[in-house]
Amino acid sequence: MVRKIIDEHRALDRLFATTLEMLGGGGGSKRQIEDAFEELRKAMESHLGAEETLYFPTIWDLLPEFKDRLRAFIRAHHRFRGHVQEIAGLMESDEMEEATYVLEGLRLEFGRHERGEEDALRSLDQEILDGETK
Ligand SMILES: [Fe+2]
Ligand SMILES: [Fe+2]
Repeated sequence: MVRKIIDEHRALDRLFATTLEMLGGGGGSKRQIEDAFEELRKAMESHLGAEETLYFPTIWDLLPEFKDRLRAFIRAHHRFRGHVQEIAGLMESDEMEEATYVLEGLRLEFGRHERGEEDALRSLDQEILDGETK
């Protein structure tokens, strides 16, 4: 499960990079940019949804002391969804520069979030290993 979360993070990093590259004038029509963003939006929603309904509940069943940290991650997910909505609206009204700006901010914030989750997952692995050797 840890491996899967980390793989999904890297896939999302690539989708962020592709979309921002296209927005930054790396070629591509408005339609192609919107398609790239749509792919990112879908992948992100499926990742956030899986963490909330599957990965995190599995973790806190195993280690209830992680619950507060996981709840904080879920609060961040709600913020990310807000930004994604905002970007979609900006693209729709053709405000591509503003959309790029908000997406860049989201990429930074999301990157920090991913690192926070990965740190938590590594300490979780450690707790499980320690538990097994006790
Ligand atoms: Fe997350
Ligand atoms: Fe995540």
